[in-house]
Amino acid sequence: MKIAILGGTGEQGPGLALRWALAGEEVIIGSRQQEKGERVATELNQELGKDLLRGTDNVTAAAAADVVFITVPYSAHVKTIESVKDQLKGKIFVDVSVPLDPDNARRVVMPEAGSATEEAKQILGDEVQVVCALQNISAHLLRDVNAQIDCDVLVCGDKDARPRVIELVEKLGIRTVDVGPLAAASLIEPITALLIRLNIRNKVHSAGIRITGLSES
Ligand SMILES: NC(=O)c1ccc[n+]([C@@H]2O[C@H](COP(=O)([O-])OP(=O)(O)OC[C@H]3O[C@@H](n4cnc5c(N)ncnc54)[C@H](OP(=O)(O)O)[C@@H]3O)[C@@H](O)[C@H]2O)c1
Repeated sequence: MKIAILGGTGEQGPGLALRWALAGEEVIIGSRQQEKGERVATELNQELGKDLLRGTDNVTAAAAADVVFITVPYSAHVKTIESVKDQLKGKIFVDVSVPLDPDNARRVVMPEAGSATEEAKQILGDEVQVVCALQNISAHLLRDVNAQIDCDVLVCGDKDARPRVIELVEKLGIRTVDVGPLAAASLIEPITALLIRLNIRNKVHSAGIRITGLSES
């Protein structure tokens, strides 16, 4: 499956792109500006020592991919999704966005839809399978591709797409927990604000969560 990361030029996108590229996945980094997407892909390829990543504009990236992740600030969430709506038909869309309070990232301001991911579903409709994932893992941890990741990623969303996204997240070297249908996104997204609060209090960058007690093995 070809992966696109819309807004993959910022904090969260590059770590995801590098880890998937190292796991053998084809990744396209999207940007509002084609040149910026290309430049960030070139920089990351230099780090990899191989030309594994490609960069372009968000619309071209979405059109070329089978699974499209979005990593943009919540303020750009709706307009970015609307800009690629036609390109997403028949595909899987994975929302990584968190509706943080712009005045205080230790809090969230949840949209009327319930969560950013449910808002995405309202915009995209039944022609796109929508999944919520990767909100509760820090960019800092993802970016250090040699770091072992010992926190969990909670995943919820449309039934047929969920196992495919879980498989991709596990290729990053991360354990996943399947939380069920999309409605759980309103519980998953706010955890990020809690983790930001803990990062600030403890002067660290990579607070995460680990779910226990789900299996006897
Ligand atoms: N950083 C983390 O540790 C982390 C962890 C979990 C979840 N998240 C969530 O992931 C999302 C991305 O976080 P981030 O830290 O990667 O964000 P970021 O670095 O601030 O921005 C990511 C990219 O979004 C695009 N963008 C920025 N402002 C925009 C605007 N006004 N309109 C359209 N596009 C814009 C930019 O790409 P172009 O200029 O190339 O278009 C930018 O490089 C957020 O919703 C955040 O809450 C972040």
